[in-house]
Amino acid sequence: MTTNPSNSTAASPLAPEWLQVPDDLNTLHAPLWAGGVTRNDAGELTIDGISVSELQRQYGTPLFVMSENDFRARARAFSDAFNDAFADICGGVDVYYAGKSFLCTSVVRWVEEEGLRLDTASGGELAVAARAGIPGADVALHGNNKSDGEIHRALDLKLGRIVVDSLAELDRVAAIAANRGETAKVMLRLTPGVHAHTHEFIATAHEDQKFGLSMAGDSTEQAGLSAAEEAVAAATGYASIELLGLHCHIGSQIFEPDGFALAAEKLLDFLAAMQSKYSIVLPELDLGGGYGIAYTPVDTPRPAAEIAQAMAAVVRSKCAGLGISAPRISIEPGRAIVGSTTFTLYEVGTLKTVRVDAPGEQAENDVTYPRRYVSVDGGMSDNPRPVLYDADYSAVLASRTSDAAPQLSRVVGKHCESGDIVVRDVYLPKDVAAGDLLAVPGTGAYCWALSSNYNYLARPGVVAVRDGSARLIVRGETEEDLLNRDMGV
Ligand code: LLP
Repeated sequence: MTTNPSNSTAASPLAPEWLQVPDDLNTLHAPLWAGGVTRNDAGELTIDGISVSELQRQYGTPLFVMSENDFRARARAFSDAFNDAFADICGGVDVYYAGKSFLCTSVVRWVEEEGLRLDTASGGELAVAARAGIPGADVALHGNNKSDGEIHRALDLKLGRIVVDSLAELDRVAAIAANRGETAKVMLRLTPGVHAHTHEFIATAHEDQKFGLSMAGDSTEQAGLSAAEEAVAAATGYASIELLGLHCHIGSQIFEPDGFALAAEKLLDFLAAMQSKYSIVLPELDLGGGYGIAYTPVDTPRPAAEIAQAMAAVVRSKCAGLGISAPRISIEPGRAIVGSTTFTLYEVGTLKTVRVDAPGEQAENDVTYPRRYVSVDGGMSDNPRPVLYDADYSAVLASRTSDAAPQLSRVVGKHCESGDIVVRDVYLPKDVAAGDLLAVPGTGAYCWALSSNYNYLARPGVVAVRDGSARLIVRGETEEDLLNRDMGV
């Protein structure tokens, strides 16, 4: 066995095949970063002119750093792309920002100001919406197991739509609304049986998972009818339900438009069949979210306009073929709006390099290669996505540039788990040292939202930068916050 000295800039055999050794470790790969993020003359990462060391001084690390301008621009871009594509089909599209990806009252206001609506998934998310003051008519409520309290809250706030997930829930919504002497505006979430090409835990439209009303086969209740049809039939019979239409969401982090198009076709077939069989009009169709973003330089998501055009083409031709007028289309992007607006800023602490065997053709030809572990001051508590979904990220040295050789590195957190990985594989300069700052881009969606207090770490704050000034939009937790909930009895 031999040992590779690893001063070379050749790709390490320990690195995954897709990971290129960057030509220049200091260059930022633009699709991963929010607009306004660049390096200043001293080589330090800045956002709207504010340096990361200044952000660390003011707010500490770890820290989520979000560009408000970028959020607003992405929200508008998404909405413009879909509105343009669908203008002549159904007069445009209603875009519901999926608040589960990242939600706080400031974001709700940006969403509203940019002309979008809001998709919520729990009473807690509704509470944020209510505090932000967005009109209930612009809010949707999701959930596969809504409590009666959440349904009451939706009705209190006069929500524009409750997306009903099951027959039992339809009955409950109908009963609660009837008791209140009100009518609930309802969409039915269906599972069109489309297999999204994404991680199993974020694919949601195939049969064998918990969400939605199946469009396949007989339901267990009434032979001959699918659960989806049974729900349509039941909904039309309830005086306290206004059935707005149908909904599906095929999964998340999807790049190809085919899955969205196929789901749209299946739902339109079903919508036409239901309209004719039950002599009803279903005026709305929601095609969910799930549009992918770039987490590493090899990710190449399609521009919103391309996806919108592909979906519009399908809706146009399908409706023409079925001889129906197109329902009003809505979509629910979360990640595609907020994901790339944010980077997480960490400070480097402990470093260690291990030597790992890369098998040669014969055992005596095995070579050991170095892999460097770079520990940062956060980890799976502020970003559990690598642990949950094998998600890949990238990172750069943010507090300075470096001309040192690239070293295959694994950025890890400070938790008591060996799976506590922030970036599984990335080339970072060999001279990265304790006290340096690292920035991990693409952490706007499902990072703060999924964060935890594992090992009693306080969850980081979120800073929004706009036009050269920064402000906390969510303050970081303190130890006191954590201890306050410990009743000590
Ligand atoms: N609409 C519905 C009904 C959803 O369930 C979701 C996401 C969305 C819209 C927004 O999807 P997006 O455009 O953000 O992909 N924690 C996972 C993602 C879970 C997605 C849950 N539902 C992750 O970190 O990848």
